[in-house]
Amino acid sequence: MVRINPSILAADFVNMERDLRRISTADLVHVDVMDNHFVPNLTFGPQMVTRIQAVSPIPLDVHLMIENVDRWAPEYAKIGAASVTFHAEATEKPVELARALRALGSRAGIALKPGTDAAPYLDDIAEFDQVLVMTVEPGFGGQSFMADMMPKVQQVRDAADAAGSSVWLQVDGGIDLSTIATARSAGADTFVAGSAVYGSGDPDVNIAELRALASGHQHEV
Ligand code: DX5
Ligand code: ZN
Repeated sequence: MVRINPSILAADFVNMERDLRRISTADLVHVDVMDNHFVPNLTFGPQMVTRIQAVSPIPLDVHLMIENVDRWAPEYAKIGAASVTFHAEATEKPVELARALRALGSRAGIALKPGTDAAPYLDDIAEFDQVLVMTVEPGFGGQSFMADMMPKVQQVRDAADAAGSSVWLQVDGGIDLSTIATARSAGADTFVAGSAVYGSGDPDVNIAELRALASGHQHEV
């Protein structure tokens, strides 16, 4: 199964409710939370995400690019986010945090920056519902896809398959019509796209085109 999760980092922040309704065919809404410490950019916090959760017809896929995730990640699960993903470096106890998120009813995800090795986390893959392999340096939308991350995607896919895990393998950064099939071939099944969904045209049409390419049905657009 292929999931397309539009990133509202590329939406209009003062027309957020409108822009949430323009992605009615999305699987989840990708919400990039940045604290200007873990990454050099600042977006929304729990108050904004509480309102997004309240008005969004689509469940939330929260991507935390923040420090102190032991303190803050559970807050997003309590808000009702369907999925909460934290970066591996932001906690010393990723398995314990994932368990806490699951206990609060959220899916638990771990994110790997381009420079972060997947190997230390693969023995614990059953503890996670999602592994996010970043295909850009986190912090900003509109960057170029890093094709050199595909071996890491394949490595996570192989580990998941070997473990019989149904973990979602997400890629985030530079996913568009020219790169999504490459990421799918490497084993990704969950695709974040900001610019490619909201940049131009009708977001739902853009989602359909991305989904068709990721599904290998190039002619079903
Ligand atoms: C980057 C964010 C991404 C970003 C992707 O740090 O995690 O989710 O919104 O934007 P595009 O799809 O434009 O690369
Ligand atoms: Zn993201």
